[in-house]
Amino acid sequence: MTALESSTKVQLGGKRGGPDQRTLRQDHWAIQPFAIVTLLSAFVIYSTWAAFQNKYYFVGANVHRDLISPFYSPCVGGSCVPGAKFAFTWHWWTWSPALIILAFPGGFRFTCYYYRRSYYRGFWRSPPSCAVADDHGNYSGETRFPLIFQNSHRYFFYIALIFNVLLTYDAVLSFHQPGLGWGVTVGTIVLSANAALLWLYSLSCHACRHLCGGQVKSFKAHPLRYRFWKFVTPLNAKHMNFAWASLFVVALADVYVRLVASGAITDYKLF
Ligand code: FES
Repeated sequence: MTALESSTKVQLGGKRGGPDQRTLRQDHWAIQPFAIVTLLSAFVIYSTWAAFQNKYYFVGANVHRDLISPFYSPCVGGSCVPGAKFAFTWHWWTWSPALIILAFPGGFRFTCYYYRRSYYRGFWRSPPSCAVADDHGNYSGETRFPLIFQNSHRYFFYIALIFNVLLTYDAVLSFHQPGLGWGVTVGTIVLSANAALLWLYSLSCHACRHLCGGQVKSFKAHPLRYRFWKFVTPLNAKHMNFAWASLFVVALADVYVRLVASGAITDYKLF
């Protein structure tokens, strides 16, 4: 067989990914979009349910703990339980405090370049995978409403940094055991892991890397930006890992605090 006979014909003007066949791939390419749909759907369903619960989000002095769910922090709503309240409170907000908060980290993840790639593949199937034809006949990219709002990602990044500081503060407070002093519990480890992963997720963000080293013509003239850029670049290469790990652990942190606050489990003290 000659090279010409074994080659694939290209028909310009056809559907993205190939006009005659959906794909030439013979591997199990459909597993990845299926896994993305399953995991992201599970997270959205759980976080929506948890946000509307408006209870069991704080473990306080009555059990010698200071643990707050990341879904409810900072707790600024009028219905926040004593001990969980932030420095200021919006008394007029009587619905679940989580509903104020989740829009910001939710917006950060929704506009994330990695998640965009994932849910465009998984949910919109545009395209479902590399070298697989779109489920749609045309493609307008992110140049029009509503996807043009994906360009707001850098602003969500700045807001996410504020949340990271607040959740780091919560992690530090989780070492405090009211009436007992300071120590480490399983809750301390969960909230600390959550804060650490959120920092890694944010610092590995493409907008962060651009902020550090973007539009610099000469790194020699900007040694500090060069240092930041050198620091975040290897993190950026692992952004996908941090995206999934931080998503899993933030949900785990809410589940853990919820189980302790409801009395289903005891927060085990290590020392
Ligand atoms: S690119 Fe994913 S958080 Fe910015």
